[in-house]
Amino acid sequence: MTTRKSFASDNHAGAHEAVLRMMARANAGDVASYGDDPWTERACASIQELFGAAGGVFLVFNGSAANVLGISLLLRPYEAVILPQGAHLDVDECGAAERVLGSKLLTVPTPDGKLTPAMIAGRLGDRGDVHRAQPRTVAISQVTERGTCYTLDELRALGRFCRSEGLRLYADGARLANAAARLGCSLAEIAAPVDVLSFGGTKNGAVGVEAVVVMAEDLVPDAPFQRKQQMQLASKMRYLAAQFLGLLEDQLWLRNATHANLMARRLADGVRGVPGLELWQAVESNAVFASLGPDHIGRLQREWEFYVWDEQTHVVRWMTAFDTTEADVDAFAAAVRATADNL
Ligand SMILES: Cc1ncc(COP(=O)(O)O)c(C=O)c1O
Repeated sequence: MTTRKSFASDNHAGAHEAVLRMMARANAGDVASYGDDPWTERACASIQELFGAAGGVFLVFNGSAANVLGISLLLRPYEAVILPQGAHLDVDECGAAERVLGSKLLTVPTPDGKLTPAMIAGRLGDRGDVHRAQPRTVAISQVTERGTCYTLDELRALGRFCRSEGLRLYADGARLANAAARLGCSLAEIAAPVDVLSFGGTKNGAVGVEAVVVMAEDLVPDAPFQRKQQMQLASKMRYLAAQFLGLLEDQLWLRNATHANLMARRLADGVRGVPGLELWQAVESNAVFASLGPDHIGRLQREWEFYVWDEQTHVVRWMTAFDTTEADVDAFAAAVRATADNL
């Protein structure tokens, strides 16, 4: 166990006690398995209502599985996914989509992790060519891998473009709560332009659960079978559901994400003006990306845990979580300053 707060990942944080309490409550007596229980019914109905989803909600164990299941509802075997280069699906899921779905991923470089209609249009040239995988689904992340956040207008523009081009839109929402907190909008507003999206619990205080939210009714019939075949149908589903019920109570999901975002903002403000340090991306969620000298990084890492995002450009990623305190942030920011002074 690290004694100092880790700034490496929101996954380093433990689970929120309200989530653990709800799991303990769900532990009473016998209930039916495979999601045919009152806990799952309540959690899924609540999420469906929050998203205004005409389709349905399917709980899975982790974010990679949510992405694979979500995309599996939107593709035929010869169709391809357009997504930003460096997206979690692209680089951090061990080729799960390629292996499990056998689908080609068509990546697009972006300055900030966000796709635009023009970028997508640039990848559509091979449509109709029988020798080429056919672009069919656009996969974005909200928030993005770079901690940036699409505005509602940007999401709506993507939705309109995809519909006009006969494309489906998927959103990886491992940090969707952070996006809702940032935008000050409802989950339904974020979800409206999208066909299928995930709603992450794990990074926001759960033990390990994500929801795949299917917006359109016509996409639902395949979902239970795809989830089972992808080995994501939990027999004791009530424990997954209870985690979401813990997060949904009194909008804990939103309070957790709002707090994590605020802590990232505080950190960015706290390191402003440190010699040699530059913010690399806008701080729009619970991540701070900064470039700083390699010696500076080395010294800091002797005492503090965080990832070097890019060894070549010396970009680091500092993540905050629902349980990061102001004192944690202030101590870390002071260390960033002190190690810069002593170089
Ligand atoms: C953007 C994004 N999507 C999905 C995931 C989920 O990954 P996992 O399968 O590790 O839960 C992560 C985790 O880091 C992520 O950052």
